[in-house]
Amino acid sequence: MGKIIDGKAISNALQERLKEQVAYFSMTVGRKPKLAVIMVGDDPASQVYVRNKIRACETVGITSEAYKLAESTESSYLETLIAKLNEDRDTDGILVQLPLPAHLNAKKIIPLIDPKKDVDGFSAANIGALLLDDKSGLYSCTPLGIMQLILSTGINLTGKHAVVVGRSNEVGKPIALMLLQHNATVTICHSKTEDLAAVTRTADVLVVAVGKKHLITADMVKEGAVVIDVGINRDDEGKLCGDVDFAGVEPKASYITPVPGGVGPMTIAMLMTNTLKAAKRNVQ
Ligand code: GUN
Repeated sequence: MGKIIDGKAISNALQERLKEQVAYFSMTVGRKPKLAVIMVGDDPASQVYVRNKIRACETVGITSEAYKLAESTESSYLETLIAKLNEDRDTDGILVQLPLPAHLNAKKIIPLIDPKKDVDGFSAANIGALLLDDKSGLYSCTPLGIMQLILSTGINLTGKHAVVVGRSNEVGKPIALMLLQHNATVTICHSKTEDLAAVTRTADVLVVAVGKKHLITADMVKEGAVVIDVGINRDDEGKLCGDVDFAGVEPKASYITPVPGGVGPMTIAMLMTNTLKAAKRNVQ
């Protein structure tokens, strides 16, 4: 295996395995798993993400139901739709694509999703399940995908120093908990951290999820580190780039994820995994 972690290939392999598991579910239950995807407005990045999620559903054999709602959609409409999907026995997963338009409050909307159908793992109940190591919960997709990428390198995390840069609820906090679950010694850095480089230089595993292009340069990385880049930014030429200066850091890293083709494809594979998990529990 090369030092560049091929997220696309690992995601494709995972989806191939999922295809069989989904087929088995569909045969035994008499229907396919079903994911409802709600998007409000027409944010260009969200449109791409939603299209990719729906395509992945088709690939693995999950039924998708897309609700593409107008930018002007009122909160009450969204609340009613979520309540209806919560009640619908044949809907296994519900996902509200973020960000929502400014007049809608994600903090109010996301908690309305039944935690058993919250395939994004964003609800308090599912974050709590992760914190308490309760495996029945649905965990956040991007951190789940990152763990798969790290474990694909064969590294034993026990006792290793894992440094997470970024403290978001969607990535930074949950990936720190997952690394801790794997017995790593975990440090979380953020915008207020003094001397970020001094901390990142001690990382055996470095996960960067900030959204700032080229935040991590070669001088901030230890020789032989595993580097996971969660950032999706545009460089000066408009090309996609991560939070890590890939050209500079790659020679020092033992393993590194590219952008695109690293973490991104894994998020979608884990969404499919979570939808199947939710579907299995829904029919129990
Ligand atoms: N927007 C960007 N990434 C995500 C994600 O993983 N889930 C949802 N719901 N919205 C997003």
